[in-house]
Amino acid sequence: MGLGHLLHHNSTPGTPGLTIDHGGSYDAFGAVFFGGRRDRVYRRLAELSGAKPGDQVLDIGCGTGYLTRRMAALVGTGTVVGLDPSAIVLDRARRITGEPNCTYTVGVAESLSAEDDSFDVVDNCLMLHHLPHELRATALAEMRRVLRPGGRLLIGEFRPPANPIGRHLVRVLTGPAMAHNPIDELAPMVTHAGFERVGSTDMHPWIRCVTAAKPGAAE
Ligand SMILES: C[S@@+](CC[C@H](N)C(=O)[O-])C[C@H]1O[C@@H](n2cnc3c(N)ncnc32)[C@H](O)[C@@H]1O
Repeated sequence: MGLGHLLHHNSTPGTPGLTIDHGGSYDAFGAVFFGGRRDRVYRRLAELSGAKPGDQVLDIGCGTGYLTRRMAALVGTGTVVGLDPSAIVLDRARRITGEPNCTYTVGVAESLSAEDDSFDVVDNCLMLHHLPHELRATALAEMRRVLRPGGRLLIGEFRPPANPIGRHLVRVLTGPAMAHNPIDELAPMVTHAGFERVGSTDMHPWIRCVTAAKPGAAE
């Protein structure tokens, strides 16, 4: 089994998304792939989400809960739900999560079971490129639906290297979904999904962070 298959394969009923079923290996790969900066990048993503103490947060495609736990630390008395189609990866997330305000549930981004207007913050990191292209807009519409008016969206996505050799390397290591991730389409897609105040920040290594808000009353 190649690394690309480890990171991106379709094995989970209920979604055509590429799921991760080897949480331990995924975290080991992440440590290397982020060059030792994974913790710093994810803490920064959590801050950029605008989440504050008491908020209700949904982390979609949470995997092993790396961002979920950092969001939980930030919201204190609030709660964070990590959602992923892979029950296997969620087992690892539960095992390694000590934060009492963090829970996990099986679900898919393209059809969320949450009520309308039920979260203050919705986030996802390295998840959208796991969905077939045609489902990405559906997933963004779902994120907007479950956010409260004025609620905040944070997306961290893989920013492929600009040079062809770097992209080739990413393709060999992880597969085409990351190597050809159409990152410049992300902010326009978020705007098209009906969000406002759309902003974009590049982080090192590899991450573009897009933030936005659902129109409506700010808290
Ligand atoms: C690269 S991992 C990212 C995990 C975590 N967010 C992180 O940054 O470490 C992508 C995750 O998206 C999940 N995924 C795949 N299809 C999905 C879908 N339809 N809805 C939600 N998550 C999905 C995978 O199972 C996997 O855990």
